[in-house]
Amino acid sequence: MATLSAYPALAELKGKDFLSSADAGAEQTAQLLRLAADLKAGRRSIDLGGRMLGLIFSKASTRTRVSFTVAMARLGGQTLDLNPSVTQVGRGEPVADTARVLSRYVNALAIRTFAQEELRDYAHWASIPVINALTDLEHPCQALADYLTLQEAFGGSPDDMAGATLAYVGDGNNVAHSLMLCGALLGVNVRIGGPVGYEPSAEVLAQSRHLAAGRCEISVVQDPVAAVRGAHALYTDVWASMGQEEEKAKRERDFSGWCLDEELIAEADPRAIVLHCLPAYRGLEISAGAMEGSSSRIFDQAENRLHAQQALLATLLAAD
Ligand code: CP
Ligand code: NVA
Repeated sequence: MATLSAYPALAELKGKDFLSSADAGAEQTAQLLRLAADLKAGRRSIDLGGRMLGLIFSKASTRTRVSFTVAMARLGGQTLDLNPSVTQVGRGEPVADTARVLSRYVNALAIRTFAQEELRDYAHWASIPVINALTDLEHPCQALADYLTLQEAFGGSPDDMAGATLAYVGDGNNVAHSLMLCGALLGVNVRIGGPVGYEPSAEVLAQSRHLAAGRCEISVVQDPVAAVRGAHALYTDVWASMGQEEEKAKRERDFSGWCLDEELIAEADPRAIVLHCLPAYRGLEISAGAMEGSSSRIFDQAENRLHAQQALLATLLAAD
């Protein structure tokens, strides 16, 4: 098995949980992105020797499910789909029992659910690494892929991103939260713009500003043009996340004027790249032109889920 000696900061993450972007430090986040870029370029290959990852997904997923499965296969491991509807989880078996039993069978769990508290519960009871594959609060694996995409656009090394500004327009949701925390660690200024009432959590904002202190700025604005002006990367996500389907009509009214379209892109830096975590709703949070335009890196970003998660899995499950 190859070791991770070229990425010394990653040794501290071995065997740990990754429940939040803030579970990695600044140097660890930068080294995760370096490892991801090296894996993507074929400069490094890591064999986890038959380790097994369990996926417990209580919400739909295309990218996260498939990229974790392929990432594990590329590392010489395997994935087991433990969808709650086909396990006893769906019939109410307690997390405390499920987590302890699964820890005897698999080497890590990637969990997609609603409450961050449930994820923390799994992590508490499991004796193996637990990875946040999206909760209502955060989407830290997405943020790693997002900043890997920025890194590629700005020169190829984490240092090349430092001082750049990423503008996220839309709902102050799980994706926004992880972008704020991870951006703070990487020295990227993150500007969140959205209508009144849809701001990111005050707690995550305070935590991001604490992490960013002296490195970069994390700001919140309520005007779309002010949000994107001069920014080097523009990002948006759905207005109604999974679990908010009933609010969809109200949110479409409240977010009127917040579509990431060509007009808004024209206010950003002329070389700004356009990002979206997908799935996207053309004509709502993003225009078809913005998605398909020459500034779009959206499909590279989707691909980068694979490389970023491969780096994460290699780190958490590293050989001795
Ligand atoms: N971006 C993302 O997490 O996509 P999926 O919901 O398809 O996994
Ligand atoms: N904010 C979205 C992200 C989907 C990948 C959601 O939670 O549904």
